Amino acid sequence: MISFDQNTSTFKLDTKNTSYIIGMTSVGHLLHLYWGNKIDDVCEKDRFILIRHKNQSPMDPGLNMYSTNVAPMEYPTHGGADLRAPAFECVFDDGSAVPQPKYKGYKITEGKQPLNGLPCTYVEDGDKVQSLEIELVDEPKDLHIFLNYSVFEDYDIITRSVRVENRGPKCKLNACLSASVDIPEGRKYDFVHLDGCWGRERHVSRNPIFCGTQYVDMKNGCSGHYHTPFACFPEHNADENNGIVYGMGLMWSGDFIVGAQMDSYDTMRTFIGINSFGFGYTLETGDTFQSPEAVLVYSNHGLGEMSRRMHRIARQRICRGKFRDIERYALINNWEATYFDFTPEKIIAIADKAKEIGLDLLVLDDGWFGKRNNDRSSLGDWFVNTEKLPCGLDGLANEINKRGMKFGLWFEPEMISPKDCKLYEKHPEWALHIPGREPSLGRWQLTLDLSREDVCDYIIDSVSNILNSANIEYVKWDMNRYMSDVYSELLEPERQCEVKYRYMLGLYRVMDTITSRFPNILFESCAGGGGRFDLALLHYMPQTWTSDDSDAVERLYIQYGTSLCYPYSSMGAHVSVCPNHQVGRTTPLKMRGDVALPGQFGFELDLSKMTEEELAEAKAMLKQYKEMGAIFHRGDLYRIDNPFDSRFSSLNFVSEDKNTVVLCRYVVKAVPSCPYKFTKLQGLQPDVIYVNRENQNEYSGRFLMEVGIPWGYWKDHESQIIVFDKK
Ligand code: DGJ
Repeated sequence: MISFDQNTSTFKLDTKNTSYIIGMTSVGHLLHLYWGNKIDDVCEKDRFILIRHKNQSPMDPGLNMYSTNVAPMEYPTHGGADLRAPAFECVFDDGSAVPQPKYKGYKITEGKQPLNGLPCTYVEDGDKVQSLEIELVDEPKDLHIFLNYSVFEDYDIITRSVRVENRGPKCKLNACLSASVDIPEGRKYDFVHLDGCWGRERHVSRNPIFCGTQYVDMKNGCSGHYHTPFACFPEHNADENNGIVYGMGLMWSGDFIVGAQMDSYDTMRTFIGINSFGFGYTLETGDTFQSPEAVLVYSNHGLGEMSRRMHRIARQRICRGKFRDIERYALINNWEATYFDFTPEKIIAIADKAKEIGLDLLVLDDGWFGKRNNDRSSLGDWFVNTEKLPCGLDGLANEINKRGMKFGLWFEPEMISPKDCKLYEKHPEWALHIPGREPSLGRWQLTLDLSREDVCDYIIDSVSNILNSANIEYVKWDMNRYMSDVYSELLEPERQCEVKYRYMLGLYRVMDTITSRFPNILFESCAGGGGRFDLALLHYMPQTWTSDDSDAVERLYIQYGTSLCYPYSSMGAHVSVCPNHQVGRTTPLKMRGDVALPGQFGFELDLSKMTEEELAEAKAMLKQYKEMGAIFHRGDLYRIDNPFDSRFSSLNFVSEDKNTVVLCRYVVKAVPSCPYKFTKLQGLQPDVIYVNRENQNEYSGRFLMEVGIPWGYWKDHESQIIVFDKK
């Protein structure tokens, strides 16, 4: 899987279907030679000598064969002759930077080591995984850069990260990206990323690569509503099933950058990592720095295969714990039913109906603690408001349990409210703020300084106390504002640009401690809806609230975009009331259910106000969900109709054992005299006979894929779920 060939001085990283090749030149530069379909050998040993060198680029000392300014560099640094976008930038006290560091040695090992303090992919017994560490060194300053690669053979995934060890004089890292890959013929590709805002997260954006730099990034301390730490680069004509696509995701929940720079020789330098904007990290002699892990995927069968590979690694080797492989809870959340205005009686009335339709769990959302009756106060005071809940959390949990349901609770542990907050009275210095200046409020709250150990310990203790105080079996971990006024009182001035990085280390420690301490609690992350949906948090919490917008139409777009990188098993998806609270749209209950069904299903409305017919419909949905959940969550996803470029949305899921197929299809916008249209399923076995579970019609897999199922004259917001079983 990973080999080093002495003759050609090349490292070859093979997954089941792909190869990734790194070459070493005679002076010790590491060049990126190939990433694509699996190839057998590297026979052209001097391939890089063919690289154009008669140009005006600066030449590295001692070189006349190529210039690092045009060669495909494996890990480009700033300070030498490569004048393109660097992945690494470091300045010493004497003001000098690191020119291109040179190869020192390598190590190939079985399996994979965890990253110090950071979430990462992991290995289980029987996995075919090997790791490669290449050491680069800047001799004059004794700075060592370790490039780490792991090959998940059966997943067709390569992960990369970088560790820096300073054995020389003090220096400051200004950039340390996790991966940079130089791909030839960049003009053939598009840049696809997911952008949006609160309530409309992760819409797909696709633009051709041009000569110059394109990137998206987040600068507000959070992986974000506006962008997500993932991008892919499909050929212009690549679609769901055809064409080459390079994809990269980052296991990081803070500021990031992902993009590409195409140079004048059409080399597309793709990159992903921590955003260097506002970042800096001082390394004294003996200090080390660890970058987050990037997850790289190559597909020559379009975007669909790229996503399925991402989904598999996310589901099976990023998510962890008891809930990774089992069906999770179908739940009712009281947020849109009551907002802050709830009483035990209202909650129990909702629970009674939830029990009636067969839900597993009730979540009590924001407003149960301190003096919190609106969004202006009390964050940080994690003790129950007994005026509002005289029975306490324990009493309420017991009532819910008596009805045969589980009880879940909302927290926003990373925040502090300046108003009506005992914690703030005692520790105003625990909030991120610039001394002597009034910090900006976001949703009336401030962000706690998780770069501090004492703050993290407080969160661990206060959340644990509540979790121990009642039978709580689910937690929604919210985070509702971006960081501003980023400054920590405990760090020296020159280290202030480390605060956001250290915050993430603190957050990961807190999440790791709490989730390990309470392995039987299901955790769902959330950030004002889907404002922090990333691979890193999935390591601690196997699902994320996808968006505060549960409008069935908007959700089709959000879930489609989200599925480019993240699996449906990680998407919280609920049925909410109409007119929808975010967009005012009215859609049929059936469509709302059909849209939520493939995700982690639930309701976000006042069940006690539903009519008997609606409750019966909700009960039927739940039954369907219980029958199909495992297929949605552990099966393979095939996207068929893209709502971004059609009036329809459709997808099908193929179960793990390939015996069942579920087709979900929706009309986003009907037109009169609608054109004749078929849904052609994907991923089926052509010679197998499939039976429609509802009407017993039989079809061959080939027929379903080549001819398909007609749509008929469907009206606005009609939807359908069809299950086909292997005969
Ligand atoms: C934002 C979340 O996305 C909502 O679902 C809800 O939990 C509110 N926060 C509560 O403040």
